[in-house]
Amino acid sequence: MMYVTRREHFSAAHRLYNPSWSDEQNDRVFGKCNNPAGHGHNYYVEVTVAGEVDPETGYVVDLKELKRVIHTHVIDKLDHRNLNTDVDFLTGVNPTAENIAIGIWKQLVDRMPQGRLYQIRLYETEKNIVDYRGEA
Ligand code: NI
Repeated sequence: MMYVTRREHFSAAHRLYNPSWSDEQNDRVFGKCNNPAGHGHNYYVEVTVAGEVDPETGYVVDLKELKRVIHTHVIDKLDHRNLNTDVDFLTGVNPTAENIAIGIWKQLVDRMPQGRLYQIRLYETEKNIVDYRGEA
């Protein structure tokens, strides 16, 4: 099994909060991330595809095609957006790194040009990183 990764970037704003909680509880749990006017991150996402190497192309997946799928269904929807209000696949979701990674997975899992989606790694900052490998 071979694993191939495409790295992409987007910038976006969000506010972390749970609408069913009081202001005090939101402030206690989310702190600065609960700032009502929001704040931004420079996100990086790494999309890893697993598969066998095609003997004719030498590829697991054509990265040009993978890039196009990621841009159409993920980056174009997230880049320079407000993740609380502007993104169809995050509607009703608290846009934590975890929930963004799950949303990206759902956008891509049935759209792989070749191979199968193995992992979404999302860097919210250089130091805060989540990995999602689907429901298991
Ligand atoms: Ni944040």
